[in-house]
Amino acid sequence: MPIDFADPANGDTYSGREADPSWAAAITDTVDPVGAHIVDLGCGGGTYARAWRTLGAHVTAVDSSAPILESARRSSPADIAFECASAEHTCLPGGRADIVFARALVHHLPDASALATEMFRLLRPGGTAIVQDRTSEDATLAASPTNPRGYLFDAFPRLVEIEGRRRHGVDDVKAAFTRAGFTDVATQQLWETRRRYESREKYLIEIAGRTGRSILHELSDVELAQLVEYLRGRLARGELIERDRWTLWTAVAP
Ligand SMILES: C[S@@+](CC[C@H](N)C(=O)[O-])C[C@H]1O[C@@H](n2cnc3c(N)ncnc32)[C@H](O)[C@@H]1O
Repeated sequence: MPIDFADPANGDTYSGREADPSWAAAITDTVDPVGAHIVDLGCGGGTYARAWRTLGAHVTAVDSSAPILESARRSSPADIAFECASAEHTCLPGGRADIVFARALVHHLPDASALATEMFRLLRPGGTAIVQDRTSEDATLAASPTNPRGYLFDAFPRLVEIEGRRRHGVDDVKAAFTRAGFTDVATQQLWETRRRYESREKYLIEIAGRTGRSILHELSDVELAQLVEYLRGRLARGELIERDRWTLWTAVAP
């Protein structure tokens, strides 16, 4: 069953993580955040809202889940503005933002066009839209010591089909940007260190709690317990550094 973002039990699922310097390096190669007004759509636990602020931006963070937003607010500085709204209809004033950002959101939306249209409305002329998400190819890369996620699909091949259904292709999001009126639509790959775990067991605690990984909500409790044992048998005991491949779509409002 897909994750229920509105369930208070999932309020902290995206909390407690800070963005890695590998993310900040890739972003600052693409845009200049210093003094910029950023809208972060589908902000989750506020990881990237805080990262944008640290890079010198003024941040408005939007999420449609009240419990998730409340958790983000609790763990963020007071000068980040949090708004509970749908990413496709934020009700924020239009034409003001320098950058509109949506990470790991579009694969939860059936229609990338509605997101692109709202991003276009929010941006000032010359502003930049950034969608960071994984295509199904990004999401199902083969397992390795730095990509333990790959073992999910070895253990439960039906998850590959679920990723295929919910993930947007590169051209799908590009076309949505173009339809919305953007120019300079481009994509690049981004390798982001998701998290450093001091041991395999610390990583497995997150897996057992389905923390920050919506795909794990597709497994029953019994399957989840099986997955934890499967991973324990494949991962080294010590430090684990998880690195993910993402696709970054960028576009400019004319
Ligand atoms: C996978 S999390 C990503 C969180 C954060 N952007 C990150 O990368 O850590 C997706 C978030 O989008 C939110 N969300 C899902 N559908 C939404 C919508 N239509 N409008 C606004 N937020 C939405 C969920 O509540 C959740 O917090």
